[in-house]
Amino acid sequence: MHKLKELISEEEIQTRVRELGKEISQVYQNEPLIVVCTLKGAFLFFSDLVRNITCPHEIDFVRVASYGNADKSSQTISFTKDIELSVEGKHVLIVEDIIDTGLTMEFLLHQFTARKAKSIKVATFISKKARREKSIPIDFVGFHINDGFIVGYGLDYAEKYRSLPSINEIEI
Ligand code: IMP
Ligand code: MG
Repeated sequence: MHKLKELISEEEIQTRVRELGKEISQVYQNEPLIVVCTLKGAFLFFSDLVRNITCPHEIDFVRVASYGNADKSSQTISFTKDIELSVEGKHVLIVEDIIDTGLTMEFLLHQFTARKAKSIKVATFISKKARREKSIPIDFVGFHINDGFIVGYGLDYAEKYRSLPSINEIEI
């Protein structure tokens, strides 16, 4: 068991996610929209968020893996699961748990841009700035943190702590 320190409570999370859902619903209104969940980390944020998106939408899921050098910037990113819907002519909202270096989101944006989506926007639960390597246009942000490793609300350390309803800093 690691030492965990709560940073964002369940209540604060739920309030923020309701606000984001409202904001997103106003942006898309009756336009065709696919909301894409990046597995596994975004699963709780995504499931809470889509229940607060009141405009019509479809959902789909991706999972990406990064492998290669321990040095993050030289890693290769690829799909281990792609979406099943066609995005052509539809708006795409990519939902992430956390944007850290930005490499994962850069890969996803590149992939969806090539598929003729009507627009692509990014919603991330957490934006973590300290290690950012790629400048990513983020349209909807839950919370900003500067640094530190966090777990809970979908985020893991070695596959543990994903189901916690709050965000916690972990001492490794
Ligand atoms: P990026 O490609 O560096 O932006 O990495 C994003 C991915 O790294 C996220 O989707 C997470 O899986 C993982 N990650 C980065 N920081 C944390 C953290 O503080 N806790 C848990 N996972 C993290
Ligand atoms: Mg992730």
